[in-house]
Amino acid sequence: MAGEPQFVEHARDGDIHVLRIANPPVNTLRTEVRAGLLDGIQAATREGARAIVLMGSNRGFSAGAEMTEFGKPRKPPSLPEVFDAIEQSKVPVIAAIHGNALGGGLELALACHARVASPGAQLGLPEVKRGFVPGAGGTQRLPRLIGLEALRLIVSGESVTPEEAQRLGFVDAVLGGDLEHAAIAWARENAGTSFTLARNRTDRIAGYDAAQFDEAAKKLTARSRGQESPLGCVAAVRAAFTMPFEDGLNVEREQFTRLVQGEQSQALRHIFFGEREAQRIPDLPAEAKPLPVNRLVVIGGGTMGGGIAMSAANFGLPVTMVETSEEALQKGLKRCEANWERTVKSGRLSQAEYEKRRALLSGTTDFEKAVGEADLVIEAVFENMAVKKEVFARLDKAARPGVVLASNTSTLDIDEIASATQRPELVIGMHFFSPANVMRLLENVKGKASSPATIATATEVGKRIGKLPVLVGNCDGFVGNRMTGKRGPQIEKLLLEGCLPQDIDRVMEGYGMAMGPLATGDLAGLDIGAAVRKARGTVAPVADAVVAAGRLGQKTSKGYYDYDENRKRIPSKEVEQIILDLAEKMQVRRRKIEDGEILERVLLPMVNEGARILEEGIAYRPIDIDVIFVNGFGWPAFRGGPMFFADRIGLKAVRDKLAHYAETTNDPNLKPAALIERLAKEGGSFATLKGAAKG
Ligand code: NAI
Repeated sequence: MAGEPQFVEHARDGDIHVLRIANPPVNTLRTEVRAGLLDGIQAATREGARAIVLMGSNRGFSAGAEMTEFGKPRKPPSLPEVFDAIEQSKVPVIAAIHGNALGGGLELALACHARVASPGAQLGLPEVKRGFVPGAGGTQRLPRLIGLEALRLIVSGESVTPEEAQRLGFVDAVLGGDLEHAAIAWARENAGTSFTLARNRTDRIAGYDAAQFDEAAKKLTARSRGQESPLGCVAAVRAAFTMPFEDGLNVEREQFTRLVQGEQSQALRHIFFGEREAQRIPDLPAEAKPLPVNRLVVIGGGTMGGGIAMSAANFGLPVTMVETSEEALQKGLKRCEANWERTVKSGRLSQAEYEKRRALLSGTTDFEKAVGEADLVIEAVFENMAVKKEVFARLDKAARPGVVLASNTSTLDIDEIASATQRPELVIGMHFFSPANVMRLLENVKGKASSPATIATATEVGKRIGKLPVLVGNCDGFVGNRMTGKRGPQIEKLLLEGCLPQDIDRVMEGYGMAMGPLATGDLAGLDIGAAVRKARGTVAPVADAVVAAGRLGQKTSKGYYDYDENRKRIPSKEVEQIILDLAEKMQVRRRKIEDGEILERVLLPMVNEGARILEEGIAYRPIDIDVIFVNGFGWPAFRGGPMFFADRIGLKAVRDKLAHYAETTNDPNLKPAALIERLAKEGGSFATLKGAAKG
């Protein structure tokens, strides 16, 4: 009809018909697309087509189901109805894939009679990463095409190239040149052959070996840390091997329905959309443009400087590492090389790509010369204010006017660092996380003078080198470290009242954390916290006693745990005795503490501090905090982050629990934050918090 958007375009090249999905930008399979496909197939059949080429317009084939239709009743036709029409069609339907064929998009292609693809396409079933399983036959059709390899693809959710897909057996041809043209030719040539639909194939699922399947499944789910969707995928794929097609579809449907409504899937979607939202800076004027950056200079080639330099080179940005001595410089460069070489050895990086990256990294001890050539400087020297100010004064003199000077400090005041320069508007924090070449999170820390262009530059460069930049305000510890710092006192109390380090870590790891807080302390080194406490004049009886016993963590092979030669942690008798002695001395009566209480007393202090951070405007939105924890602090994405955790409990309950623990543990820090009090009273939540929480 004239004037109405066409969601599926129908073209003809002689007796080969082309159906093009046209739902920009990524061709999600919304109702109109599904209806259009059904109509198109019927029309092509009526007109006597010999074959139908099904493809996507614009950027790709299809990114799958429309997420906004989730949880709402779907208007017909459903995807399975469309797939039935394809599978019953006498005219073969050939999927021609470019760009992304993901989720429901790939399932659509799998229902077709054959699949061709152009190089550079990405094919995958990422549903597991959103917390559910493919729900339109993907778990039944893919195993019938490629056997047990399907389990790996579906449980990992990773996509593959067309070449890999062809090797595995779910792409029939990889076609160079113009895809439409090539696919029409391919269709014309092959239209006469008899295609076997995926659902009718039995060769790849024959000879099902339960033991072999179990072993593969066990390996693939070993690191799911309590996430349910990988197990749902295993159950659905197993059905493909053990049941008739229709029964398998039912198993898949049950898993899909159960998981998609579950809390984990909601959490994963919360983070998925949140990661996009957190990169938008609400008060950044539209005219703020990032400054051009063609050379990065990193000051300091230590743990962090090396990782930052690698991140730049990994993403094609030329980078110079500056060190104080030739020896330190060589050490810094060698550490980067060794890291890349390990990746080459493991097969995840080609030698050619390594050499390309290595060529982008240079090093010098000539501070002034290097800084004079910089478009952006990131400082990563020792964490000491006097040292930082000296370095920034020197940077200010050596750098060209207008060049942004960033600091990777994890605790120091950005404004004070900026005060050492004549260009405070060009100073900003760029707080990377260790290992900096691996961790995605980048807390960009806005000083009171940081200009919009400076903020835009730090954001832009962060994205360019593969990071997820989240802009936060300047305060002690910024967002992430400030919040994790607040769980310390409760951990101390838990240890005295009845827990051992392994109890707390077991609960936190059972929740899904990559590593429990005490094991994390051992990894980072317990002397760091001890130095901070000394500087601040605070005490932590257990931690102090552990450090006093010479137990500094993994680097001394003992901390809260003992460590064997493989760095495997072993519960420590000595630490247990230290704790028991202290409890006795301090007259704390030890009792059995339930797991639920441990979890709450470790997490709620962080939630409370998160609320204060919102009140102060240090974070723009609750989602920013959740994104920070998932990407920088090993918080499992399927749990959605600390503020999501609080919302799940409900803020009334959070307020009551905080007030309860504040009183019973005599910890004024747990007195509910004003924002929590207010939202609890209003019946509100962090998710529905509108506008600024500040004030
Ligand atoms: P590091 O001690 O491994 O490296 C510091 C390097 O800076 C040393 O190699 C030193 O020779 C060099 N250096 C000192 N003064 C210099 C100067 N004037 N010019 C050039 N090079 C100089 O320290 P690390 O761990 O890399 O930390 C660096 C910064 O990153 C600190 O501000 C720290 O707080 C921050 N940070 C550290 C994290 C970590 O997990 N290690 C995480 C996030 C931030």
